[in-house]
Amino acid sequence: MKGCGHTPVLLEETLFFLQASRPGVYVDGTFGLGGHSLEILRRNDSARIIGFDHDEASLQTAAGRLGSFSSRVSLYQADFRQLVEFEGLVPWAEVRGVLFDLGLSSFQLDNPARGFSFNQEGPLDMRMDTRQKITAEKILMTYPEDRLAGIFKEYGELHHAKLLARKIVSLRKLGLIKTTVDLRKVVEETCHWVPQKNRIHPAAKVFQALRIEVNQELTGLGDFLEKLARICFPETRLAVISFHSLEDRLVKRAWQQLAAPLTGQPVVKILTRKPVTPARQEIEANSRSHSAKLRAAERI
Ligand SMILES: C[S@@+](CC[C@H](N)C(=O)[O-])C[C@H]1O[C@@H](n2cnc3c(N)ncnc32)[C@H](O)[C@@H]1O
Repeated sequence: MKGCGHTPVLLEETLFFLQASRPGVYVDGTFGLGGHSLEILRRNDSARIIGFDHDEASLQTAAGRLGSFSSRVSLYQADFRQLVEFEGLVPWAEVRGVLFDLGLSSFQLDNPARGFSFNQEGPLDMRMDTRQKITAEKILMTYPEDRLAGIFKEYGELHHAKLLARKIVSLRKLGLIKTTVDLRKVVEETCHWVPQKNRIHPAAKVFQALRIEVNQELTGLGDFLEKLARICFPETRLAVISFHSLEDRLVKRAWQQLAAPLTGQPVVKILTRKPVTPARQEIEANSRSHSAKLRAAERI
């Protein structure tokens, strides 16, 4: 479900599709700790990176890892969906590749204070951008029951969505859901969880759903990818790594519409007929890569 901080997912495949040895600018919309970008810089002396991430702590930590590459990197704290609105920030004519490695990094997941992990006790926060007001706690405490159920169903594909929403609404009045572990226990009880090999923990689904809602991860993603492709210059390569089917579907649809529009000329050529997935060795070395899917396209 998650991407990584220090171990970039699908690294070789991503650099291959970006053709990242070409001189020019590469835009990294989800810089994280810079795993993919640092590798581009290491292998390509003529590359520059413009990086975005809306997580301040990630950017600060990443900035400390740049070392001698810092003169070739510009970092901005922003939501990448604003990228197409920043006039003059990105020299699009020089951009050779744009990368989005969606979701969460290990750096975020492994910090209990951020509230992303159901295995570690922490506040129900889950904000990637801590400047924003809405947290997982606020959602759990204030959303009406049917809206909660809708989120669990749609973003988490949880079977017991309605039951869980009802349970949460009855417990929240008593102040019984304060931390990540409180929520996990409610989920386990409501979903009658019995650990079994190859079964996804229902709390993983619930936490995914809440995280998507807190950060509005899917909102406008398709439209953004369409606008971005139109702004890019010919031969710019676009690569997106996603970690769940909802995201992957949006990427696939956006590019399909651009590759075979009902009217007008195609805007992109799709380079990955099927998404590229990690090899067994990568999954063994980094289990968090198991759900990664890479899609790539080229601006025509
Ligand atoms: C999977 S990590 C990226 C890891 C990075 N490729 C690396 O190798 O270090 C995803 C990063 O994207 C950021 N992110 C997710 N959605 C974002 C958005 N809409 N705008 C900006 N950053 C976003 C997260 O804060 C996180 O740091």
